[in-house]
Amino acid sequence: MKKISLLIILSLTILMTACAANKETTVKDPYTFTNGDFELGTLEGWTTTGQAFSQTMVSFQKRDANNLEYRQQGMYFFHGGKGDLGELTGTMTSSPFVLKGNGIIGFLVGGGIDPTLTYISFINQNDEELLRVGNENFNDTDQLFRMTVDLSDYLGETIRVRITDLDSFNDGFNYINVDDFIINFQGPYDVSPSIIKANDYIEANENKINDRYRLTYHAMSRYNWANDPNGVIWYNNQFHLFYQHNPYAANWGPMHWGHQVSSDFIKWTHLPVALAPDKTYDKDLGAFSGTAIEKDGNLYLMYTAVSGGLQQQAIAYSTDGGITFQKDRNNPVISVLDLPSNANSSDFRDPKVFKHDDTYYVIIGGKTNGVGQLLLYRSDDLTYFEYVGELLNNNNPDGSGYYRVTGGIYECPDFFIVDGQEILIASPMRIPKEGNDYENLHSVVYMDGSLDYETGTFTQDGFTELDGGFDFYAAQVAKHPDGRTIMIAWMQMWDRTMPTQVDGWAGAFTLPRELSYINGHLYQKPVREIENYRENHIEESSVALANGIQTSITGVSGNKVELEVEIDLGNAASISIDLLKGTENYTRITYDKQTSNLIFDRSHSGRDIRGMETNLATRTTTIEPINNKIKLRIFIDVSSVEIFINDGYKTMTSVVFPNSDDLGITFLATGGNAVITHLNKYDIIVK
Ligand code: FRU
Repeated sequence: MKKISLLIILSLTILMTACAANKETTVKDPYTFTNGDFELGTLEGWTTTGQAFSQTMVSFQKRDANNLEYRQQGMYFFHGGKGDLGELTGTMTSSPFVLKGNGIIGFLVGGGIDPTLTYISFINQNDEELLRVGNENFNDTDQLFRMTVDLSDYLGETIRVRITDLDSFNDGFNYINVDDFIINFQGPYDVSPSIIKANDYIEANENKINDRYRLTYHAMSRYNWANDPNGVIWYNNQFHLFYQHNPYAANWGPMHWGHQVSSDFIKWTHLPVALAPDKTYDKDLGAFSGTAIEKDGNLYLMYTAVSGGLQQQAIAYSTDGGITFQKDRNNPVISVLDLPSNANSSDFRDPKVFKHDDTYYVIIGGKTNGVGQLLLYRSDDLTYFEYVGELLNNNNPDGSGYYRVTGGIYECPDFFIVDGQEILIASPMRIPKEGNDYENLHSVVYMDGSLDYETGTFTQDGFTELDGGFDFYAAQVAKHPDGRTIMIAWMQMWDRTMPTQVDGWAGAFTLPRELSYINGHLYQKPVREIENYRENHIEESSVALANGIQTSITGVSGNKVELEVEIDLGNAASISIDLLKGTENYTRITYDKQTSNLIFDRSHSGRDIRGMETNLATRTTTIEPINNKIKLRIFIDVSSVEIFINDGYKTMTSVVFPNSDDLGITFLATGGNAVITHLNKYDIIVK
């Protein structure tokens, strides 16, 4: 085996050296055609009609007036706009060549504002056009970017390349630049100009952020807007968090995928933007939510491409360890034509891709007759997908008793197994309030049950809200190599005012949480790695809370804090803890013994937050005390409060916007006496 591959490498090297030597003279190399890279400095090998493609058009300038590189290959490229003669029209056709290798042709293209008038086509011996493409990456400059076409259907045929310029307007970029045609193209691929632009924009502007409400131990976008976590995955020894991102404003806009990584879920490093709207199928509203999966060692992203009113599923993959991504040439891999007949094509989003046995499965949110459904697809190769069935259709709410009719769809589904139990998570829009549950405009729920991979049906054993606070949405799950199941969510809610928007950012993520399924219930705990950042430990036990007397404890204060507290309710009617307390503001958590309700009150937290809900003051969750005790683990991070109740049986997650000197923490019992049986306070410091 070894010998054979060595031989191949050797002969390839000889072949490549020979090709390089021959390049400028004949076309012996099966993978080139005469002057396909314009390095002859002339148009030799090309036949022209009209005026647009003439000798004078071959340019070898390295830089233009703005000092932007043309990004040409080698010395020369064909510059259709050279000398401002862009209004000329014509065609230019290469010499014929036999298509060999993988059938992919790569080339550089620039300019060409109107792809219907300036384009590149591939023609057969009968002068029939096999394929036509315009400049997909036009970015208001003359810069050339790599495009590829797949002509593998025509392998072995003799074809020619034809460049056409019918654009006779004399406004900017009404001509086409081309360079470096490579047959049997193997890469490397260019980074999309839309990604370069986004990264440059962030780099140039991120110092404008006002950090008064910035969190210190949570993931956030580097600059401007973030919503859902996407493609969370442990890959290459790191946890990758992609997210819905608008780099250009602190509000929702055409969706990019931001990207950051962490090796311990707490300390984050920003990476370049991973996806930007730059293809016909995603150029309008961009790359909506989706998931990630590893295949053959490479990272694949599956997302919803939104353009022209359609939502379809697309794939992008990385061959450089998950930094830059290429969009798959078969996109959209699941198009609106693959929808079942009862589904609508404008609400079809948020693919969750996962592998079961040797097959890839995808769960996608859909809509039928105005209500949500979840659809299941499958694929052997992540390229060709077939529809399996309807996982969930809440048209029949009384069926199992678990479905909930929503006015929107089940967004951002996720599916995983934890402690042997199959769990389906989704973010149903506008579930009507039910007791203390579903008070937010949209909710996140988990359904324990079982999935039938053949029919696509999911049998539910339960339907439970995942978090009882104000700000928790679009939760997503990843597996850690040590077996842990980690969940992270967007710590915000749609249609709320966000006081940080004027500061140049919006949207943070919850602490990553470890999930476990015990006695039919899903528990959440903050990732254990948070404990590595604890400092300034204060420990107390048996602190009496006398009826009606506000109690504070020396050293227990701050706004970057973990507070672990166990309270024996004694004969008190209720106990409350005020956090982030200043002269005017406080954020109050109250436990009411009679109703067994834990109430989170942010009506005096600081900045006012508005939204679509009637109750914007409090969120309530019901929880039974254990031996008359209630146990809270509270994480405060400048403008967020996450509460893990009774060892993670329930959680409440909310954002608040106090003043920077609102640092107090006090305790109160009313209607009787209570006791803090145990308390630990730590500052959480991430350097
Ligand atoms: C959920 C969501 C997704 C969608 C994304 C767009 O918050 O509405 O359904 O893909 O946000 O940013």
